[in-house]
Amino acid sequence: MSLRRSDEKSIESGEDWGSNVSLVSNHSSFSCFSITLRIFLGVVFLAAGVVAVVYSVTMSERKDAQYDENFFPYSVDQECSEGNLSVYTIVSDDGSETVFEVTSTKLVWIQDAQNKRLFYQFGVAPNIQYRLFVYETVAYNVSNDFTACSKVSGMNYQKFFAGLGLVDVPKKDHAEQLLIHGHITKVNAYEGEPPQDLLIDGEHPSLVFAYSNAKTDITYRWEIFFPRESSLSRKDYWFEDMKPRTEDASIFNDLPQKCLDL
Ligand SMILES: *[C@@H]1O[C@H](CO)[C@@H](O)[C@H](O)[C@H]1NC(C)=O
Ligand SMILES: *[C@@H]1O[C@H](CO)[C@@H](O)[C@H](O)[C@H]1NC(C)=O
Repeated sequence: MSLRRSDEKSIESGEDWGSNVSLVSNHSSFSCFSITLRIFLGVVFLAAGVVAVVYSVTMSERKDAQYDENFFPYSVDQECSEGNLSVYTIVSDDGSETVFEVTSTKLVWIQDAQNKRLFYQFGVAPNIQYRLFVYETVAYNVSNDFTACSKVSGMNYQKFFAGLGLVDVPKKDHAEQLLIHGHITKVNAYEGEPPQDLLIDGEHPSLVFAYSNAKTDITYRWEIFFPRESSLSRKDYWFEDMKPRTEDASIFNDLPQKCLDL
């Protein structure tokens, strides 16, 4: 194109040197622009690459720490001195009426999200049945009188929650409300189907609902539903008194030395 133009010019005017000078000068400025553009694009691609790496690292850290707001936030600094687990078992079902037996147990829950620790007490005094000290890589089952301690095989912080079907439970697209101590409280609601290989008390749960405070993410409740064929019908974990953890995590100092010797 430029050459043609130069040819035309030289034919028209006969002064092709001017044209040529102008062409060289054009070419040179184009080349300069081209180099600048290449450097610019290079920088842009490099920056995009850096941004992508930083983003993916951040996202994986977030997912690891359960800050992905699209899923139930199970790793939260929180405590509750009297939770209530109700287990619904079907005693009879004649097709028109289902009769349930409900067994309720009080729970103590102290969770240290930063250090991935959970203290879970099944039953409260004087009916404490056992205590679990769950850590990032190991979990111990301590008897009521602290005399016996055993390692819970295959359990750790992450697996404790996975075992309740609480990992990767998707958030519902609308907030809901729960009555907490007589106050209507806005909660984020989560609903999901637990993984196929999950068994709870030997049964595969079909559905999990969970609810956490919309502002603080503390957990108020989760419910685990079992298929109709199972006599175990539902497990309802209810923590009306759940609060952000304020105490130091001194409860973890109560882990008996004999556990550490295991
Ligand atoms: C626990 O929940 C069950 C079933 O909803 C209820 O009957 C029982 O009163 C509750 N117990 C406590 C201590 O809140
Ligand atoms: C902890 O031990 C008690 C018996 O001391 C047992 O009933 C309970 O199932 C154990 N809990 C877990 C999670 O292993």
